[in-house]
Amino acid sequence: MQSFTKSQELLKRELQVSPLAAQTFSKSYRYFCQGIAPSYMDHGEGCYIYDVDGNKFIDYMCALGPITVGYNEPSINEAVIKQVNKFASGSLQSELEVELAEKLCQIVPCAEMVRFVKNGGDATTAAIRLARAYTGRDMVLMSGYHGMHDWSIGASENHKGVPEAVRKLTMNFTYNDLNDLEDKLKQHEVAAVILEPIQSNGPQEGFLQGVKELAHKYGALLVFDEVVSGFRYALGGGSELCGVVPDMAAFGKGMANGYPISAVAGRKEILQQIEHGVFVSTTFGGDSISMAAALATIKILEQPGFYEHITKIGTMQRDGIAELIKKYDLGDVLSVSGMPAHAGVSFEGHGSLNYLDIQSVYSQTMIENGILVFAIYNLNKSHTEKEAKAYIEATDKAFALIKEAVEKDSLEGILRGGRVDPVFKRNIK
Ligand SMILES: Cc1ncc(COP(=O)(O)O)c(C=O)c1O
Repeated sequence: MQSFTKSQELLKRELQVSPLAAQTFSKSYRYFCQGIAPSYMDHGEGCYIYDVDGNKFIDYMCALGPITVGYNEPSINEAVIKQVNKFASGSLQSELEVELAEKLCQIVPCAEMVRFVKNGGDATTAAIRLARAYTGRDMVLMSGYHGMHDWSIGASENHKGVPEAVRKLTMNFTYNDLNDLEDKLKQHEVAAVILEPIQSNGPQEGFLQGVKELAHKYGALLVFDEVVSGFRYALGGGSELCGVVPDMAAFGKGMANGYPISAVAGRKEILQQIEHGVFVSTTFGGDSISMAAALATIKILEQPGFYEHITKIGTMQRDGIAELIKKYDLGDVLSVSGMPAHAGVSFEGHGSLNYLDIQSVYSQTMIENGILVFAIYNLNKSHTEKEAKAYIEATDKAFALIKEAVEKDSLEGILRGGRVDPVFKRNIK
C-alpha cells in the first residue's frame, strides 16, 4: 500500500517558502493527482526511483528528459567524483572543456564551434542573439518551446511580464507547413528561423530541408532547438536523424545524464562573433563537474546499439498504447503520438468530463501501479522489455478505468485524490 505522508509534509513546508514547491513547472505537485502521488525523490537506480516515503516507481519522466543513461550510473559517478576531488568551477578552464568541445564538433553535424552554458533556454537565447547580430535583423520565427527567456516566452500564451515591444519581435509558425513559414518570411525581415526539428510524429518528407532553403532564400539563419531531440533520438540529434544541417543548434537536457549543461553549436563565423562583441557569457558555463558527466555520458551513448535499444523499447510501448486504445474503443478521448524514445498519450474531454478529468484517471492508475509518468514518457538505457511490459499492463488498467468513467460520465467512485491541475492548461469548456 503506497503512503505519501512524508511527501505531503514536505510539500506543506515548501509551499510556505517556494512558489509551486518545485523549481520546474512540470515537476510541481499540480501535475499529479493531489494527495495520492509522490512529490519528493530520495534516490534513483537505473530506471527506478524511490520517493521519500520509500515507494518505488519505474521512472518514465527521466527528470523531464535529462536522464538518458539511468540514475546512479557507475562510470558517470566515477568521472564526476574524480573531478569533484579536483575542482568544480575554477579560476581557469578545465581541460575537460577542450575535450568536450572537440567531441561535440565531432558528433554534431553543424558544430564547427561550441559555447557552453547551463540551461536549454540559455543555449537557444545565445543562438538567437548570434543570429540577430549576424544578420543585422531583429525578427524571429519560432516553432516549439524554447525556454523561459523574453524573446520566446513572449510569443507564447504565457507572456505575462514580457514587454510588448519584445513580444512583437517573435512570431510562431506552424510545424510541417512550409506555406505558413514562407508567408511570414515574406512579411518580415527575419534574423532566425528556430524550431524543434522533431515534434510529435516528426517532420513530413522534405519539411526540414524546405525550412532550410526558405530561411536562406529570405536571408535568415536556421537554428535547430535540439534540447529535447539532441542525444535522445540520435547522437547527432534530429539533424543527424533527418539529414539536414542547420546554421546553429542548441543542446541541453540529455547531454550529461542529469548534470546541468547546455551548448550552442554552429558555424565558426557565426560563433566567432562572441570574440567580437556578441555577449554570451555565464559564471558557471565552464563548470567542470557537468563537463566530466557529459563526457562520460556521451561515451555510453556512443556505444553500438544504444539508440536501437531505446527505439525497440519505445516502439513496444507506443504500439502497446495504440492497441489498448483500440481494445477499449477510446479513439475519441485518447490518442498516441511521438517518436519511440519520447511518446505517449493525449487526452480529450468526453460528455461532462474534460481532458484533465480523463488525464487524472490515467495519472492515478499509473502511479498506483508503480509507474511515474505524465502523458509523454522518456526512455533511458536502463529501461528494458520488463519495464515496458509493466508500463503496458498499467496502461491497460488505466484505460479500463477511463472507459468506465466515460461510460458513467462521472468520476464518482473512480478518482480517489485531487484532479491533475497543471499550471498552464488548454482552455476547458
Ligand atoms: C525544446 C526545448 N527547448 C528549450 C527548452 C528550455 O530548456 P531549459 O528548461 O533547460 O531552459 C526546453 C525545456 O523543456 C525544451 O523542451
